[in-house]
Amino acid sequence: MKKERILVTSALPYANGPLHIGHAIGAYIPADVYTRYHRLRGSDVVFICGTDEHGTPIAVTAEQDGTTPKKVVDKYYKIIKKAFSDLGISFDNFSRTTKELHYKNSQEFFLRVMEKGLIYNKTAERPYCSSCKKFLPDRYVKGTCPHCKSKDERGDQCEKCGKQLEPHELLDSYCAICEGSPKQKKTEHWFFKLSEFSPKLKEWISKQEHWPDNARNFSLGWISEGLKDRAITRDLDWGVPVPLKDAKGKVLYVWFDAPIGYISSTMEWNSKKWKDYWQSPDCKIVHFIGKDNIPFHAIIWPGMLMAHGDYNLPWQISSNEYLNLEGQKMSTSRGWVIWLHDILGEFEPDLVRYYLLSINPAKHDCDFSLKEFQQKVNSELIGTLGNFINRVLVFIEKKNGGIVPEPTEFDELDARMLETIRGAPGKVGREIENFRFKEALNALLAVAGEGNEYFQHKEPWKNDKETTLYLCANLARTLAIIMHPMLPFSAQEIWKMLGLKGKVEKREWASAGESPIEGGHKIGKVKPLYGKIEDERIDEFGRKFLRTEEEPKMVKLEDFARMDIRVGKIKRVEDIKGADKLCLLKVDLGSLGERQLVAGIKEEYKEKDLIGKDVVVIVNLEPAEIRGHKSEGMVLAADLDGKAVLLVPEKGVAAGAKVK
Ligand code: 2FM
Ligand code: ZN
Repeated sequence: MKKERILVTSALPYANGPLHIGHAIGAYIPADVYTRYHRLRGSDVVFICGTDEHGTPIAVTAEQDGTTPKKVVDKYYKIIKKAFSDLGISFDNFSRTTKELHYKNSQEFFLRVMEKGLIYNKTAERPYCSSCKKFLPDRYVKGTCPHCKSKDERGDQCEKCGKQLEPHELLDSYCAICEGSPKQKKTEHWFFKLSEFSPKLKEWISKQEHWPDNARNFSLGWISEGLKDRAITRDLDWGVPVPLKDAKGKVLYVWFDAPIGYISSTMEWNSKKWKDYWQSPDCKIVHFIGKDNIPFHAIIWPGMLMAHGDYNLPWQISSNEYLNLEGQKMSTSRGWVIWLHDILGEFEPDLVRYYLLSINPAKHDCDFSLKEFQQKVNSELIGTLGNFINRVLVFIEKKNGGIVPEPTEFDELDARMLETIRGAPGKVGREIENFRFKEALNALLAVAGEGNEYFQHKEPWKNDKETTLYLCANLARTLAIIMHPMLPFSAQEIWKMLGLKGKVEKREWASAGESPIEGGHKIGKVKPLYGKIEDERIDEFGRKFLRTEEEPKMVKLEDFARMDIRVGKIKRVEDIKGADKLCLLKVDLGSLGERQLVAGIKEEYKEKDLIGKDVVVIVNLEPAEIRGHKSEGMVLAADLDGKAVLLVPEKGVAAGAKVK
């Protein structure tokens, strides 16, 4: 039979920070389960990923951390790669979009589409920050979403309503670096004629009846609103340079080059065979992504591929909904997040994979809770699966000298157990094939549960134990194979404890339905498969890692000494029209005279409460222009649940007094 050919990709994570549990269950664990399953099935499957190292996510992080984009991506590439390997994500290739091969591919892709007349240039107005002296693409701008009116959204996509944005569409926009108000300035950009692909994309997506509702409905909805041409270049000095003489200082938009990264990573994996996956029409390309990536993978990327013409379109787009944490939305900026390296530093990877798969947010957002993690691991994974394996193997070790007995006659229960073994791979496999990963895990547990019931009913400690132990040893082998896609580390442990040679991942899926362990087989050394998660351990983990504050970043004493901080007296307060949070303060700073400061305290303080108040001001910050007003310093305030509380001296001191 011809092998099924599949290319599995997981969204390329931005190399601008570590990965958290939401990432893990979003696009990586499900893809790994799917790939491992297909490897066992003997499919011709390749699993591709890499870090997404361009764009404003990286540039803004570098700017905010006072470092270079290159240093940012080098640091996080290593951290991300290690977290994936510790979690057992079995990529065949994990590349980076800063590799030369990828630059070449992206530039050739651009030129090819341009030659076909599907890319054109035009002058457009773009936000420009005059204090930072640069254009503000994508995440350099923040403001109010024009669709759902959510505030402080980024210029590329609204986190709340998921709509794609262009920075100039934001209302009340401000510079993400200095908070100044951008001006519109003319600049030349290159546009992809996405609008031309509306009918073709609509027809194609309508036919993708096997797509999940979230990808299909979102895309059809978006097409019905009318697709617009997309700017695919940016004024930025970090990215793949636009390969045209008259495009100095311009780079390709990160979402133009990133998906091409799937092709580059496949080429890097194998410089000849990559074509079998991207150009041979019998290959199914499956993209695993997070929900916010749907528009790019279901519309823009297929549009780019249609324009290029030489590559396969995606066959499936599997995307999960969001994962909340203890009932709240995860937020990396507030520190409300569990980093993968933290949880993997404390708990075995299969426990993390198990819990995340058991709550897999395929159709609805779902919640990660540490207590539920403990409870599900202890009662389901250990209580059912671990229990079966342990009971059987310890029994064989203690009561039969570690030897699997020769079976005798089969009674009705034995015959049913044989059927359970035969049917197990089909039950679990069907779910994985249909991208139903939570259901696959449940099917696996149900098989282990049948094992427990069988063992209990047969009472091998009272009755003849031969057939029972023989069938149970074979069921343990079945479980090791069918759990491998989901729980690869413990699958291998079981394999070893059973005294079976080699790697479970080299077995065939269908062979999980057989019973090849014969009487006389000697099992290996037995030890508990998993350790229970005790209360103290989970509580301690919560105390240590579930906090809303970030570790303070260290600065040198001499850096702090360069700050000039003074006490000032507020003389006058003026309103800034159209700003909800900002007001204008005129502050007496003694020998420095009176200065104007823009302060984000309008919601918290009324003018009459501010006049005459002594406040603490950093006076040697470079002046900035905020909402068209000059600000010559910064008033210090504490944060109380997102509200500002002004810092004031404890006793009366003269205006201009130094803060030391
Ligand atoms: O959202 C993200 O994290 C993007 N870096 C995903 C890119 S997926 C692909 F197109 F490369
Ligand atoms: Zn700025």
